[in-house]
Amino acid sequence: MNKTSSNLPDKYLHQPVFLEEAVDGLNIFSGGTYVDATFGRGGHSAKILSRLGFDGKLIAIDKDPEAIEYAKALNDKRLSLYHGSFSELGNLLKSLKIEKVNGVLLDLGVSSPQIDSADRGFSFQKTGPLDMRMNTSSGQTVYEWLMGATLLQIEKVLKDFGDEKLSSFIAAELILRRDSKDCSARKQFPETTSDLADLVVSVIEGKRKRHYYKTHPATKTFQALRIFINNELEELEDLLEQIPMIVSHNGRLSVISFHSLEHRLVKFSMRPRKVQSNNYSTHPKRLGFFSDQDTIKFANCTIKEIKKIKPSRDNIQENPRSRSALLRVGEIICAEQE
Ligand SMILES: C[S@@+](CC[C@H](N)C(=O)[O-])C[C@H]1O[C@@H](n2cnc3c(N)ncnc32)[C@H](O)[C@@H]1O
Repeated sequence: MNKTSSNLPDKYLHQPVFLEEAVDGLNIFSGGTYVDATFGRGGHSAKILSRLGFDGKLIAIDKDPEAIEYAKALNDKRLSLYHGSFSELGNLLKSLKIEKVNGVLLDLGVSSPQIDSADRGFSFQKTGPLDMRMNTSSGQTVYEWLMGATLLQIEKVLKDFGDEKLSSFIAAELILRRDSKDCSARKQFPETTSDLADLVVSVIEGKRKRHYYKTHPATKTFQALRIFINNELEELEDLLEQIPMIVSHNGRLSVISFHSLEHRLVKFSMRPRKVQSNNYSTHPKRLGFFSDQDTIKFANCTIKEIKKIKPSRDNIQENPRSRSALLRVGEIICAEQE
């Protein structure tokens, strides 16, 4: 990960969800070391810094280069900023020679600036390129992926990550337009977010008798493609597995999740488990950056759910983005400390 250092401006372009509650969940003490693994526009980071003393530390991460550019204007000696995926947190701490931190905050999903910029391609309400990458410096765009994917791959992504009931029809229409010998049909293959939204609407309206939707018909397709192209669930699972090894005994994890696939992974990571010092994980990914010895030492820790908060009516009225949000706070419990 690349390091930059910064100073928080007064205005945030992103209205944070569960701002007080998620930071309260970290149970911050002034000299502690904390991680904001999803910096965005720094709302949660600013709140954490306001509760840290001069000797506290905040490590902030984001995979979006624009979030990092924004943060470069900031200047706070206690804050270190890293561009990269939060799934690399274990490696990052190791490179910084930090054995354990006191808390990690995760505010999942996309930020308002990402959704609101048409050129990022996240929104079906604004015409832009079919991109949807959070990290615009690497990886395939949605358009590039759709150009090379098979019918079954597209169908599976729409079904698994969007629970789209008409996934097979949407996938078939995409393939029909892409692979058609007729060049006027090929011209209709979606190149922009609006093209894709129109294609999904035409497929769904052709199949459904009643055209009543609580949300836009393309919502599930866009969610699925975004989750897939950013490898969101695998990266979340990866980080959650590292938490018991990188957060200290009685340290905290605050996670704000926005849809059922995320809710499920977070809930699973905080499931009740017995912590036993002789029962350690030999997860192959973990052994990459932790030695066998480290794994034995740290894997006797677990995350215990201590709080779950749903948004109130007032929260939703104030910030409509919070309507599907769920905050879970977990405490790290290690066997040899009990
Ligand atoms: C909902 S926003 C966070 C907003 C932030 N809490 C604030 O108050 O401004 C989520 C941010 O997390 C980043 N993000 C999502 N997945 C990530 C990952 N795997 N690694 C690093 N950053 C990620 C996104 O780029 C986005 O900027």
